[in-house]
Amino acid sequence: MDDETKQKIKERYQRQVNRGERFWPDSIFKDLIVSLAIFTLLILLATFIGVASEPKADPSDTSYIPRPEWYFLFLFKFLAIYGQIPVLGKIEWIATVLVPGIAMLVLTLLPFIDRTPNRYYTKRALPISIMALVVVDIILLTLMADVPTVSENGSKLVGWLQAVAGLAIPGLTMIALFLMAFAFKNISAKTMFWMTAIASVLMIGFTGSVLAIAPKPTATAEGTVATTLVDQIFAGQDLYSVNCTECHGDDGKVTKIEGVKGLEGKEIPPINGHDVLYTLDDASLAEVIAYGRPDAGMNPFGKTYNPAGLSKSEIDYIVIFMRYTWDDRFEMPAEALKPLFPPLAEGEVPSYDVHIQPIVKRYCLACHRAGKENNNFLMDSYENILSTGDNKDKDIIAGDPNSYFLQVIQGHAIPDPKDPTKTLIRTMPPNSQLKPNIVDALIRWIMAGMPRTAEDAAKLTVTPAPATGPAGTPSVTPTP
Ligand code: HEC
Ligand code: HEC
Repeated sequence: MDDETKQKIKERYQRQVNRGERFWPDSIFKDLIVSLAIFTLLILLATFIGVASEPKADPSDTSYIPRPEWYFLFLFKFLAIYGQIPVLGKIEWIATVLVPGIAMLVLTLLPFIDRTPNRYYTKRALPISIMALVVVDIILLTLMADVPTVSENGSKLVGWLQAVAGLAIPGLTMIALFLMAFAFKNISAKTMFWMTAIASVLMIGFTGSVLAIAPKPTATAEGTVATTLVDQIFAGQDLYSVNCTECHGDDGKVTKIEGVKGLEGKEIPPINGHDVLYTLDDASLAEVIAYGRPDAGMNPFGKTYNPAGLSKSEIDYIVIFMRYTWDDRFEMPAEALKPLFPPLAEGEVPSYDVHIQPIVKRYCLACHRAGKENNNFLMDSYENILSTGDNKDKDIIAGDPNSYFLQVIQGHAIPDPKDPTKTLIRTMPPNSQLKPNIVDALIRWIMAGMPRTAEDAAKLTVTPAPATGPAGTPSVTPTP
């Protein structure tokens, strides 16, 4: 660049500076264009993508856990982290009033405090560093907002890591920066930027480890969301099957609990009749489920009383399911009357994927899953059904009608070989009797060798020859 061009550029720059930019209309015009663009983008997003609506708000819901909008989550996390500091954490107004108040005050007074005309970044190292730290901290606190400050097993490690990442490092760095800027006035901009960068990397590292060790939200923690009535009934059915059949049976009829540790033989009122359904309205039913009947042995299911429990909407789905299934004042919508599995044709072999899994989920899983102490037979996966249980060698034997599994579902308890007056395994499910088409499907499945997929099952299916009489269900009789 020769001197002449340099001179020209400098002159042009000087002219522009002298002319200046007017706030009205120049700046306002630019602002308007940008806000119009953002507004249009929002309208397009709302029209074409939209946001899924949440279940209707319920002012009477005491189990609802309120959460701020996402752009306030960082404040929310800040308060949660601050709250665990010993002593200071108890003085709430420091975090809720003082700190935000000072921040607002500083922002308001900034034009009066910082009157330097310099715009070059090395001349503005302190404000840039502080702002960078604040922005990084806000982003990291927002990311950590979903992680509980005290983990479920009571360990405080996650909380302290969060405090280091979100409070200690940024706080101490800011104090250090201020001290350096005002106490030792000749500190270089480069040093400040390096400090900010190192602090940011440390904060990101700690946040990363918090996110890595935090428990992953499970499907149940997220909760089931169903919007149409039919979906809600199905969701309620599934939730009922897994949570309630154990004690109340798949049809709510049970009057004597069987096969449940600690409640063996306990008499309970059936929950599918007028006594319960007519006397309890939806809100009271939901409350019974949320709060349980702790004295009688029914533990609370609501999240407020049981962190691993059901959300408010999940409880509502169970109530809806109970109403439409058992309450004669409600009529089940036709679309919700779908059979549990596609009906089997003569000679057709059922598969685990299509037929057996839904049966097991509806009638057995409540008791046969991890965490139940009175049996070791896990029915939560194909592999586990075939390989667990105290009597796993005898439970399921392909083609053997004397398999324990087939005996107990047909109402034949297995006697204890050591003491024939006692039973080794009672009939299953202990509290009700499976419908004939379900028993039939289970028999066909084990007799045919427990195919897993629909294809495997199709290979085993024999189409009966018309002349040789009915094939299909093998008859199974118990051996004495
Ligand atoms: C561990 C066993 C157990 C489980 C699991 C269980 N309950 Fe209960 N439930 C009981 C007992 C015991 C009672 C009887 C309380 C009494 O006698 O007052 C009861 C009572 C009830 C009542 C009647 C309350 C009344 O005032 O008459 C309802 C309704 C009910 N349960 C619904 C449910 C639902 C829905 C679920 C599944 C989310 C469920 N229960 C899961 C044991 C259980
Ligand atoms: C109310 C709880 C409950 C339900 C529901 C239930 N079971 Fe059981 N099951 C038990 C208990 C408890 C045992 C342990 C033996 C006993 O107490 O009789 C058991 C044992 C078994 C065993 C023997 C396992 C072994 O290796 O010892 C089989 C097989 C079995 N159940 C099949 C089923 C099937 C199939 C279903 C569903 C149709 C079902 N159960 C539903 C509680 C239940």
